[in-house]
Amino acid sequence: MTTHSAAERKTVRIAMNGVTGRMGYRQHLVRSILAIREQGGVPLGDGTVIWPEPVLVGRRPHALRELATRHGLDPEAVSTDLDAVLADPTIDVYFDAQVTLAREEAIGKAIAAGKHIYTEKPTATGLDGALALARQARDAGIKHGVVQDKLFLPGLLKLKRLVEGGFFGEILSVRGEFGYWVFEGDWQEAQRPSWNYRAQDGGGIVVDMFPHWEYVLHELFGRVETVQALATTHIPRRWDEAGEAYDATADDSAYGIFQLAGGTVAQINSSWSVRVNREELVEFQVDGTEGSAVAGLRGCRAQHRSATPKPVWNPDIPATERFREQWQEVPDNGEFDNGFKAQWELFLRHLVADEPYSWDLLAGARGVQLAELGLRSSAEGRRLDVPELHL
Ligand SMILES: NC(=O)c1ccc[n+]([C@@H]2O[C@H](COP(=O)([O-])OP(=O)(O)OC[C@H]3O[C@@H](n4cnc5c(N)ncnc54)[C@H](O)[C@@H]3O)[C@@H](O)[C@H]2O)c1
Repeated sequence: MTTHSAAERKTVRIAMNGVTGRMGYRQHLVRSILAIREQGGVPLGDGTVIWPEPVLVGRRPHALRELATRHGLDPEAVSTDLDAVLADPTIDVYFDAQVTLAREEAIGKAIAAGKHIYTEKPTATGLDGALALARQARDAGIKHGVVQDKLFLPGLLKLKRLVEGGFFGEILSVRGEFGYWVFEGDWQEAQRPSWNYRAQDGGGIVVDMFPHWEYVLHELFGRVETVQALATTHIPRRWDEAGEAYDATADDSAYGIFQLAGGTVAQINSSWSVRVNREELVEFQVDGTEGSAVAGLRGCRAQHRSATPKPVWNPDIPATERFREQWQEVPDNGEFDNGFKAQWELFLRHLVADEPYSWDLLAGARGVQLAELGLRSSAEGRRLDVPELHL
């Protein structure tokens, strides 16, 4: 990392791989790194700021140059040669938002080259690979972080506030509903990449979403101790980016039950074949002895036991109460930044100022483990223990 005393900037050069993709471009490049530059960097409180300097890496030089030009970066500084970028001693961090299948090898190389790591999830396609990366990183003494963006969503931050404030009493259960209709691609273009629906290309909703559920459940309610899942492919045929039909070999829906340390039971449905009849694309209902809450991406509504209605089951008469209207909106009480950016800032502070940071490659491996065990539970038709991971 270089310090420019004139501007009091600590420059961190970040090789960003996969920035032409959905996540790499929108969330990481535009909404995080470029947004941090637009706000003047990450202030450290001592007059200096961390200044991220992205170096775009990928497979298509034209697309990379176009991206760089569009965003005021040097189009000549882009690269399609990852090995050369990793051999460049001025690069501090390797960031990976490539397709999942390409990640493990690239991160392994980057650690071997002595780079710090920041990466999308899942960190690898299997637990062994994910743990191997975590061990390699520990042995190399580099700093590493894995995206756990859902923790930084306004809705979940408000939910966390309720948990930490003791609002729920004993937390009994968590019910999560995630999903939306992903178009098949024939008469309307699909809104997700086709590799997501091919197991051989690293696709599948379990691999995609269980890593998120692992850290959400773990951080808010307790470590996941068992998993029981049913993963299925409701839509077996889809059409790709070129309009060609293909067989969807990966699961597009997963119905999971998780037992958490402390006794809470969580049940989360994840589906790309469900139409949304909810306030938000993901919602978690938490029921506790003292109160309940429903949190989405942005909103969070709560109901205290003192304000809980007493419905009586009677199908012969129409519902007498408007149950949804009986919940109270939890106020923001602050400003929420983009979740990806918020986590990037914490990682950069960890990197430069050595501030504590726990969302690392071991945390990432826990997500991969839950996905792997979820798929195995589904294949074997039984509930599985989730052993605690150690390096
Ligand atoms: N944190 C989140 O909420 C979240 C959400 C969606 C996806 N993701 C993760 O982000 C990663 C990228 O997902 P995406 O939806 O942006 O995918 P995408 O298909 O839009 O982008 C993939 C990127 O990888 C590059 N790439 C490298 N090697 C490739 C290859 N062999 N084939 C195809 N593309 C290749 C592409 O050029 C592109 O830049 C995945 O690992 C996914 O799990 C995370």
